[in-house]
Amino acid sequence: MKPQPSSVRKRRIHSWPVRISHWINLLAMIGMVMSGWGIYNADPLFPFTFPQNTTLGGWLGGNIAWHLAVMWLLAANALFYLLWGVFSGHFKRDFFPFSARSVWRDTVRALTFHLPHKLGQYNAVQKLMYSGVLLLGLLLVLSGLSIWKPVQFSGLGWLFGGFDIARYVHFFAMSGVMLFVVIHVLMVVLVPKTFVAMITGGKALNKEESADE
Ligand code: HEM
Repeated sequence: MKPQPSSVRKRRIHSWPVRISHWINLLAMIGMVMSGWGIYNADPLFPFTFPQNTTLGGWLGGNIAWHLAVMWLLAANALFYLLWGVFSGHFKRDFFPFSARSVWRDTVRALTFHLPHKLGQYNAVQKLMYSGVLLLGLLLVLSGLSIWKPVQFSGLGWLFGGFDIARYVHFFAMSGVMLFVVIHVLMVVLVPKTFVAMITGGKALNKEESADE
């Protein structure tokens, strides 16, 4: 087969490592959040608890067992995604650059329903949100480690200002991820073709098509 010139070379909208790790991450997040809410209920930080049917594990021991088991799936999957994202150039190419000005411009466009969606190209709001949720994930992991093993990770615990504050940090990072998911899913609902592409990989577009869609 004749090699194609680079200007017409085709590429999928979402590569298979991004798709697989995205959907495994969703499953792992559901497990982590539901078991985490169960653990929270045993010793609430605020004057509310989560409904029992939104928790996973049945009782505190079960909640903790689920949380620590799913944690390994989440960690392995995140490591795979991060390594692939860095070494394939995906993060550099698709998440950057963005600026305060471009985020503001695209936020206004999104809120007035004037934001064009170019398949295979993230807008500035998406770039900010995806980079932000990765940082929130890091904060969740670090605060989680300092709560899980306060002796072994005493340095981390100290950085967070102690065990009790690390619990608040963990809770607010979880809340930030939940807020991300709500906005993220709303954006997907507004542009449903992105959902199909995140499952199938989407049609292979050449550079010109992906810029015009
Ligand atoms: C029902 C839940 C979810 C649905 C339907 C969904 C759907 C999608 C879709 C369709 C895209 C591609 C957007 C586009 O091409 O413009 C995407 C990307 C992404 N989603 Fe989700 N998502 C969900 C949950 C989550 C969760 C829980 C997280 C993390 C906490 C997450 C993180 C991301 C990230 C980081 C990307 C960018 C992936 C990359 O290019 O590397 N999503 N999601």
